[in-house]
Amino acid sequence: MEKGYLHIVTFGCQMNVYDSQRMAQLLSGYQMVKDIKKADLILINTCSVREKAEQKAYSLLGRLRGLKRNKPYVVIGMGGCVAQQEGEALLKRFPHLDMVFGTQALHRLPELVSLASQEGKRICDVGLSHNGDMAPSCVSPLLPNVKSFVTIMQGCNNFCSYCIVPYVRGGEVSRKSEVIIEEVTELVQQGVKEITLLGQNVNSYGKNIPGELSFSQLLEEIGKIPGLKRIRFTTSHPKDLSNELMECFARIDTLCEHIHLPVQAGSDRILRLMNRGYTRQQYMDKVQRLREILPQVSITSDVIVGFPGEEDSDFQDTLDLVKKMEFDNIFSFKYSDRPHTKACSFRDKVPAAIKDQRLTILQQVQREITLKKNKRLEGHIEEVLVEGRSKKDVFELTGRTRSNRVVNFTGNYELVGKLVKVKIEKAYVNSLRGIIVGN
Ligand code: SAH
Ligand code: SF4
Ligand code: F3S
Repeated sequence: MEKGYLHIVTFGCQMNVYDSQRMAQLLSGYQMVKDIKKADLILINTCSVREKAEQKAYSLLGRLRGLKRNKPYVVIGMGGCVAQQEGEALLKRFPHLDMVFGTQALHRLPELVSLASQEGKRICDVGLSHNGDMAPSCVSPLLPNVKSFVTIMQGCNNFCSYCIVPYVRGGEVSRKSEVIIEEVTELVQQGVKEITLLGQNVNSYGKNIPGELSFSQLLEEIGKIPGLKRIRFTTSHPKDLSNELMECFARIDTLCEHIHLPVQAGSDRILRLMNRGYTRQQYMDKVQRLREILPQVSITSDVIVGFPGEEDSDFQDTLDLVKKMEFDNIFSFKYSDRPHTKACSFRDKVPAAIKDQRLTILQQVQREITLKKNKRLEGHIEEVLVEGRSKKDVFELTGRTRSNRVVNFTGNYELVGKLVKVKIEKAYVNSLRGIIVGN
């Protein structure tokens, strides 16, 4: 039965992208619309990892006030990490908001939506259990015939002192390996070539579950699924990156040569205050070991500048580590105070101007490294999975190398979903350009 039009706005990480796909699937009686003004049901899936992300959700919601005034029957819901964090308070603060649903309420969404739309109730569902929401979740592919996410675990037990994720996503829960393997198999049968396994800390997959596979064993099993061309995973916590997992890169052909390994800081004092569970040296040793096993491995990282108490010498340590590690790329952030977290109560907050300065310096250093590493690929032939038309030029195709670099090239749209050989002709900071030299 057709129920009306649905528009979903997604902020935040890949986990949220996956959750939004699930929402669309759970509400399949609704037809998705691109134009928010045409929707009868608007869902905003929010992120709370930094204050800026939280503000984005509020400003969008604020802008919908007029729309609700003109079309009072439109149901507006806010879900995800900000919803989990704020709960009922959101209903008080935004009288035009109909529903607040937390990170573990997804499978109840159809029920919540019908209470709001048919009975006109204002709803808040933000219970958080430590068993997680393990409702069936096979979603349709992110890009049909190309790639898809599969969640293998939810939540996090690490409590890095700056991070809100454990508070808004609950404790770590792994999904059963049989279910994951079944889901990947089904997606591959639908034509998917690349799977990204998702979790806040995939390395601790299966821990504390008697008889469950370890993450490396899970990768081995997924590596055997016929027709699957590429496997990726994210995120790995350096403290739990085992030798066994590193060796998977050499053993499993379809495992792409890329690992996202967030370091966060290069100063031991700051790493300790962050509760990261490794030292600078331990991190560097793991990177070295990875490069011994697989010299061409691409390594990306996350870095926070301006953590409370960060002195200039600590920042210099971070800069030095980033230079030494020569990451293929990094995501870098200014520290942002988050409710509930330990770091929020730390003194010696770093002034905004200094955070800005440090971020600029760090990003400049990394830009040069990224460009230098991309330039090394000029003249090389890379395997590219074609994802679709390029955003900037509709006559161009775009895809990714196994190392996760974006490549643009001229080609026929029928190549989408295929693996092609592309000769890299020009490297930029954010992408590569090339020409197809074969299938
Ligand atoms: N689970 C993943 C990522 C979680 S959030 C991991 O452990 O790596 C993604 C990134 O956001 C983090 O790696 C961190 O660099 C950044 N981040 C998290 N909390 C932050 C905060 N309070 N301020 C600034 N950056 C933060
Ligand atoms: Fe946050 Fe740390 Fe967990 Fe990552 S490992 S989600 S940074 S608490
Ligand atoms: Fe943001 Fe929640 Fe992901 S806080 S980073 S959307 S887990």
